[in-house]
Amino acid sequence: MEHIVDDDIESYLGHLQRTRDPVLLEMEARAAASKFPIIGPLVGRLCQQVAQSIGARDVFEMGSGFGYSTWWFAQAVGPGGRVVHTDGDAKKSAEAKSWIDKAGLGPRVHYEVGDACEVIKKYPGPFDIVFIDIDKHAYPDALELARSRVRVGGYIICDNTLWSGKVVLPASKQDADTRGVTRFNKDAFGAADLLTTIIPLRDGVALCLKISAAARDPKRKR
Ligand SMILES: C[S@@+](CC[C@H](N)C(=O)[O-])C[C@H]1O[C@@H](n2cnc3c(N)ncnc32)[C@H](O)[C@@H]1O
Repeated sequence: MEHIVDDDIESYLGHLQRTRDPVLLEMEARAAASKFPIIGPLVGRLCQQVAQSIGARDVFEMGSGFGYSTWWFAQAVGPGGRVVHTDGDAKKSAEAKSWIDKAGLGPRVHYEVGDACEVIKKYPGPFDIVFIDIDKHAYPDALELARSRVRVGGYIICDNTLWSGKVVLPASKQDADTRGVTRFNKDAFGAADLLTTIIPLRDGVALCLKISAAARDPKRKR
């Protein structure tokens, strides 16, 4: 249970991409050299596409690393837009700032260092998008915090929701991270104020559209 998508298909999809921004390529090389887990260009493009399709101007990222996913959202929000970058590691935050500045996107990004589940409490929102990519055991908490901070018509986007296929393991064989991801998926599909789909791209991306009270199914409890 490693790759969700067949390697040849992944490679084919990768070659269709035309986004060859030199700074982005450098960031991808940096991630590959250090085996740092970034969302990669296929999921990055999906994030940019979803953000642009709803005219997103304000994005909160939970777990931004050295700023690769931030680059894609910063492209999407445009001049005057904002992406809040959060990471528990101050060094990652500083590195992200240098990459984002190098890419000419500096004015669009605000940096916070700390536990994203605490930092987000300072931000009532509403955001157009909350993106979740923190430690997986914290996904259920992150979902609850994000749900109340995304506007109707906005999205919660969450990476790694198929978790190398471990989501299909029986509960007795799941570790804390896998339990976090499976709980997230259950909650995201069960929430009456979210319309959720998991795209089986790379490691699985959940797209959760925040819907209005009027659109809620009255038979649902949550
Ligand atoms: C998978 S990496 C993020 C990659 C980034 N989204 C990208 O695609 O470029 C996860 C990052 O989240 C950070 N992290 C994990 N749990 C966190 C938490 N609870 N609060 C803040 N940052 C967290 C880690 O330090 C790490 O840099």
